[in-house]
Amino acid sequence: MGWLEGEVALITGGGSGIGRAVALRYLAEGASVAVLGRGAAQLEEVLAAAGDLSDRVLPLTGDVRSPDDLHRAVEATVERFGKLDILVPNAGIWDYHRSVTKLDGKELSEAFDEVFGINVKGYVLAVEAAWRELVATRGSIVMTLSNASFHTDGGGPLYTASKHACLGLLRQFAYELAPSVRVNGVAVGGMRTKLRGPQSLGLQDRTLEASFAKNEASGQQQQPLIPLYDSSVEPEDFTGPYVLLASRANSGTVTGAVIPADGGIAVRGFRSPAGGAGL
Ligand SMILES: NC(=O)c1ccc[n+]([C@@H]2O[C@H](COP(=O)([O-])OP(=O)(O)OC[C@H]3O[C@@H](n4cnc5c(N)ncnc54)[C@H](O)[C@@H]3O)[C@@H](O)[C@H]2O)c1
Repeated sequence: MGWLEGEVALITGGGSGIGRAVALRYLAEGASVAVLGRGAAQLEEVLAAAGDLSDRVLPLTGDVRSPDDLHRAVEATVERFGKLDILVPNAGIWDYHRSVTKLDGKELSEAFDEVFGINVKGYVLAVEAAWRELVATRGSIVMTLSNASFHTDGGGPLYTASKHACLGLLRQFAYELAPSVRVNGVAVGGMRTKLRGPQSLGLQDRTLEASFAKNEASGQQQQPLIPLYDSSVEPEDFTGPYVLLASRANSGTVTGAVIPADGGIAVRGFRSPAGGAGL
């Protein structure tokens, strides 16, 4: 028996990266999963990756900045699987560390609208579209947050502010939707995904995994001073907390909480840890 047997989830940005990994993990835990994304090909690939379980996958194209697309996604999910228990607001873009000192006002203005439109408005609209169904099932929301929801330098000012904003949303939604719907989050750290940048800055085709590969090829350390990171940077390594927080049996008393799955950024020191041997 999986931890999510019979549950129904909707994951935004579920066609790749951590969203895709959570979709496949939720399936393995017994859930049915609707994955919303912009690229039909990516979504079809999730269906293929699900193999024998693909009858429990519903691919849905849409843009998280569109209330209509999100309402359609919730309706289609309920039509296909009968209900909605778990919403995972997850779709996002990065700002590739663009500093305020490196962008002019026009660039900042356009990139702000794009980053906040997807990362923040996309979460608000997903919750607006889904809350009625979640109240009906006494379900839960598990948001993808970030190390950038708590710490500096996980991006530039736009990304950092957008992810801090998502933490505010999580807390406010947890308050507004209690006692019917639990609202929690997983603050994931750096991992190898296709996370892209804003089109307005010409960064829409750049991917984080390409940056990882470039750093590795040049011998640069990927995650300096992150206690647990030497190799654990694949999305699959981050899915456990999403299962725990969605599980009614195991997290029924938890709301407004965030599990940091970032390799221990909050316990960094001034020197490199060496497995207890070298300090
Ligand atoms: N990769 C990391 O290192 C990292 C670290 C911390 C947080 N995150 C967060 O994880 C989440 C998922 O990102 P990822 O790393 O898996 O990257 P990803 O690019 O693989 O996944 C993001 C998905 O969102 C989709 N998407 C983007 N804009 C959309 C839109 N307007 N409408 C619908 N779908 C849209 C993309 O097509 C993609 O499938 C993001 O919120 C990101 O900020 C990632």
